[in-house]
This record gives sequence, C-alpha cells and structure tokens, in this order.
Amino acid sequence: MTTQNKKSAVTTHRLYMAPMKGFTDCVFRQSFAAYFHGFDLAIAPFIASVRDCPVRRRHVRDVWPENNTRLRVVPQILSKVASDFAAMANFLYDMGYDTVNWNLGCPSPMVASKKRGSGLLPHTDRIDAFLDHALAVMKGRLSLKVRLGWETSAEIFRLAPVLNRYPLKEVVIHPRTGRQAYEGGVDLDAFQACQPIINHPVVYNGDIRTLEDFQRISRRFANIERWMIGRGFLADPFLPDTIKAGQDRIEGKLQRLQQFHEALFHAYAERLKGPSHLLKKMKGLWRYLSLSFEPFDKTLKKMKKSTRPEHYLDLVNRFFETEATLIRKKEKGH
Ligand SMILES: Cc1cc2nc3c(=O)[nH]c(=O)nc-3n(C[C@H](O)[C@H](O)[C@H](O)COP(=O)(O)O)c2cc1C
Repeated sequence: MTTQNKKSAVTTHRLYMAPMKGFTDCVFRQSFAAYFHGFDLAIAPFIASVRDCPVRRRHVRDVWPENNTRLRVVPQILSKVASDFAAMANFLYDMGYDTVNWNLGCPSPMVASKKRGSGLLPHTDRIDAFLDHALAVMKGRLSLKVRLGWETSAEIFRLAPVLNRYPLKEVVIHPRTGRQAYEGGVDLDAFQACQPIINHPVVYNGDIRTLEDFQRISRRFANIERWMIGRGFLADPFLPDTIKAGQDRIEGKLQRLQQFHEALFHAYAERLKGPSHLLKKMKGLWRYLSLSFEPFDKTLKKMKKSTRPEHYLDLVNRFFETEATLIRKKEKGH
C-alpha cells in the first residue's frame, strides 16, 4: 500500500453545510436533515452582533436549540467589535453551544466597506486586537470562516501568523478574494501554498458541485479532512450523501425531492407571515435546485409567476410527477 492509499483508507471526511443567508435558516436545516444525509454539521448563516444593548433570545432565534434538533449547528456571528462579539458568543455558549464561528468572509460591499466580513482581512492588526480581546472573555471555542484576502490572495500569508497566535478550533477557507465575491475560479494554488503556515485544522470550502469535484480536490489536498459545501448541495441535495458513499447509487430521488419540497413549504407556511413571504422563500430555492433538472423553462416561469401558495404547490407537484427529469451526471465511483 502506498502512503497515499494508507492515508485515504483511514481518512474520514467530515462534511459541513455552508451558511447561506436567505437559504439555510433553521426551518430549512430541519427539513433538509429529515430527508437528506451526509452532513455532519451546519454553520448557521451569520447573525450580526448587537450594539449598545444586551443580547436577547430574539436576536438569535435561528439557533434556538429547540429549533435545531436534527443537525449539529455552529452559530456564526458577523462583527468588528470584540466586546459585542464576545457578548453574543457568551449568550450562545450559555444556550449550550460549544463553538461559535466568526464571519471574516462576507464579500457584500455593504458589509466589507465597513471593515466587517472579508473587508477586515487586510487589517491584520485589527483582527489581532479583536481576537485578543474577545478570546480573553469568551467562555467557549471559536472557529473562523475566511477568504484568501480582500484584494489579493497574498493577504492570507500576513493573516496566518496572527491566527496562529490564538487557540482556534478550525479555520474554514474559501479560496477566493472578497473583491471576487463569487466570480472567477477558486485559487487552489494559493490555498495549497498557505497550508503549511496555518497551524489550525483547515476546512476547505468552494465550488464542490459534484462527486468528481470532491474527488479531484480531495485527492489534491490529501491532508484535508473537513469540507464545506454551499451552492453545490442546494442544487443537488443528494451530494453530501453521494460524497460520503463515494458513488451515486441513490434510488427514488424525485420522490424524495418532492417530499422535501412539500415538507419545507408547510414548515415555512407555519413560520412565515403571509403568502408573499412564503412564495418568495420557496421560489428562491429554484435558483439552485433548478440546476439539477433538464431545462424546464416554461414551467419554471409559471412557478415564479404564481401568486397563490396553493397554486404554486400544485404546479411544483405536477412538475415532479410529470415533467421533472434529473440531469444524469457522469460518475466515476471508486
Ligand atoms: C446566497 C449566499 C449566502 C451566503 N451567506 C453566508 C453567510 O451567512 N455566512 C458565510 O460565512 N458565508 C455565506 N455565504 C458563503 C458560503 O457559505 C460559501 O462560502 C460560498 O457559497 C462558497 O462555497 P460553495 O462554492 O460551496 O457555494 C453565502 C453565499 C451565498 C451565495
């Protein structure tokens, strides 16, 4: 057995559901975990820290433990003020969470221009001071979600020595810059180059859309055991399970997708006020989910135009029962 084979024989990959604001809220996570498998945990979409007032339960509703019974969750906080961050983190530890995640990856210009999210990445002095202050008072563990930099991939090389000074649980890296947002490719060379200088467990995140993507990237980074998937699993909810199995032998996919869609619809109907919120939420899902199907432009247009929830649900159910055809992917099981 070669060293490489020995390594893959003992590697147990852990898969993380990426935080996707607007998509992967607790209603989604609960419904998803009832129908699909493969994720070991989810990082929840960010909650902004609160200024000048105590943290209340309503601020962190998405991560109330009673709303998150099916999938282990790590709450994520967006903040540039260490004391605000620590106050919210401690509130979450008191709720029973052992780890919170700091968002240093958000590329939105509204966020980054205020030196939050990925906009903070070039300011390593501020990150240093933030970690120093926050970790001194935090009662639990901290993980980070970062990009390679804001302006250039080289920023990670200035950031890594700062991160190495603190006892972080893990660092999730999305190998793009903040400026790139989601454009262009992931910079796997820069991701590889920064591995040896980061003394924390690293989670890889970016552009894993198929089993082949996972196999190709995981072969290249044989030392990585933790993987985060976002858009890829929203398009193909069976992807985490397929990756864990190393092959796609899942039967009855259409029925399962239909059941999940209907369960999610009813769960949101209970939670959201008014038909327009419900429809907006459900229609939003098709931005990604539609990528798994052979083109169905006419029906999709009708779904998107629908203004009554019962009509929308009826259209979708008819789609699943008649027209829906999943795109067949070329699989190279191993
Ligand atoms: C609509 C949307 C919402 C997102 N929300 C968050 C968020 O709340 N927190 C965060 O750290 N990243 C967020 N991200 C980034 C994803 O977690 C992930 O890093 C990114 O999509 C790249 O991974 P992927 O190629 O597997 O999708 C978001 C991305 C998208 C497209």
